[in-house]
Amino acid sequence: MTFSLPSLPFSPGALAARGMCQETLELHHGKHHQAYVTALNGLVDKNDVLKGKSLEDIIRLAHGRDDLAPVFNNAGQHWNHSLFWNSLSPEGGGVPGSLEKKLTADFGGVDKFKEQFKAAALGQFGSGWAWLILGTEGRLKITKTGNAGTPVATREGKALLVIDVWEHAYYVDFRNRRADFVDNFLAKLANFEFAAAQLAAA
Ligand SMILES: [Fe+2]
Repeated sequence: MTFSLPSLPFSPGALAARGMCQETLELHHGKHHQAYVTALNGLVDKNDVLKGKSLEDIIRLAHGRDDLAPVFNNAGQHWNHSLFWNSLSPEGGGVPGSLEKKLTADFGGVDKFKEQFKAAALGQFGSGWAWLILGTEGRLKITKTGNAGTPVATREGKALLVIDVWEHAYYVDFRNRRADFVDNFLAKLANFEFAAAQLAAA
């Protein structure tokens, strides 16, 4: 087995009072994410070119290749979910000063950042992700990707924070109300401490 499911950085019930219940996390982490890891390992095991390569190298190698689409989808989903768990916190929502300063410099304020991030998350038609990225030119930017799309593939910078907007991320807690899920993420769940640490390490 090459890749394994990372542990959640909190207990599965830790976010229940903040809008993400234990059932959501048990399904999303224990079933969905686990399934991507299991499928990826099966595909890598059958492919001598991919065997032994890092997850990032596999994503870049498979990107845009029809013959490796299942590899790309499962590898991208493994990478994206691993960042998503770190983008959540039982103490989420608070923006530390260092990140606030950078958000203000690059977006005009924390509220303006949140507006644009929400617009990206809602504007992603169908399944996908919205990202806060430190671009290669040193400015923060917001992007969105469909399905298993990931900034790892496009090398457009360092991902600091991500929200999963696949329906499996919010249907148990918010049914079809993606906007409420995104608002709740930004107010109560987003691990801006993690994003700030990622920014400081960049
Ligand atoms: Fe997901």
